[in-house]
Amino acid sequence: MKRVGLIGWRGMVGSVLMQRMQEENDFADIDPVFFSTSQAGQPAPDVGKADVPALKDAFDLDALREMDVIVTCQGGDYTSKVFGPLRESGWDGYWIDAASTLRMADHSVIILDPVNRNVIDDALSRGVKDYIGGNCTVSLMMLALGGLLENDLIEWISPMTYQAASGAGAQNMRELLNQMGQLHGNVADLLADPGSAILEIDRKVTETMRSSGFPTDNFGVPLAGSLIPYCDKQLESGQSKEEWKAQSETNKILGRSDSPIPIDGICVRIGAMRSHSQALTIKLRKDIPVSEIESLLATSNDWVKVVPNDREASMEELTPAKVTGTLSVPIGRIRKLAMGPEYISAFTVGDQLLWGAAEPLRRMLRILQE
Ligand code: HSE
Repeated sequence: MKRVGLIGWRGMVGSVLMQRMQEENDFADIDPVFFSTSQAGQPAPDVGKADVPALKDAFDLDALREMDVIVTCQGGDYTSKVFGPLRESGWDGYWIDAASTLRMADHSVIILDPVNRNVIDDALSRGVKDYIGGNCTVSLMMLALGGLLENDLIEWISPMTYQAASGAGAQNMRELLNQMGQLHGNVADLLADPGSAILEIDRKVTETMRSSGFPTDNFGVPLAGSLIPYCDKQLESGQSKEEWKAQSETNKILGRSDSPIPIDGICVRIGAMRSHSQALTIKLRKDIPVSEIESLLATSNDWVKVVPNDREASMEELTPAKVTGTLSVPIGRIRKLAMGPEYISAFTVGDQLLWGAAEPLRRMLRILQE
């Protein structure tokens, strides 16, 4: 059994990972060792196994060196601090990481096995040891579009995203709810009166979100009742870093960084909790009937689900409210666009913490045990 060090298992992504590993009985097949950046020596979490040692210090290179595999959700700062010294000290175990720090490194592979199992297998046979989870919007888009990508039918994609608060962090989710609560609280009396004027309610809501007391420490600006047309850092190209990742990560995942599919669009934060949505404009390499596109997409992996392009089905099936907390990645609104027969639209939704973050990591751990 492989000795697997788990780091950052208490944070938001780490907690989802732990939950999924327990649901899938993953702990039965490994010797887990839990690390902590602050509570070394305290008891390890109960994962239904005897003999799990007390928490070890996540900065103790000697303890880390004893692991066959390290799985970290601790974040980029931890990776930056520990990965280099650990490798330099001679450790050659497998490093599985949710953070973006090492994603584009030559020595790493971005893992999304339902789409790039061939790339992963090839890397394993070449002795690659660093396996990094992809950006959430990228992984979710690729799972949805697997059927077109694997058949090389896409000339370019323009994804316009509707990203949930969770992508910005746990504190941001809390802030979104606090913003929502304040907006509602300030007009609750007026709302309770069916005869009150809606424009008066709206004026008060706007006043509240613009007031200095509105909670914006994390987002910087109001999100509830509004949106934020920018995710992540600003780059010199004019793109946000989130927008830059779409093309660079997708093509690395596909193992085709030398002949990349152009992918570019605008990433927007909206007031959803933990499911990202994306409106895709796609240019296909040739004119393919919608029915064929749908059947290619639907059969590509076990999690993608094609939703027929009708109003009822779209409203029921293609929303964060429906998808959150599940591994399902629905894609719908598929139709030919007025620009020509090679142009299609699509809309897809996926849980940002499951397939967008935790799931590829636990599956990579499974692959290492095959
Ligand atoms: N960067 C993403 C976001 C989440 O801001 O929504 C992490 O992949």
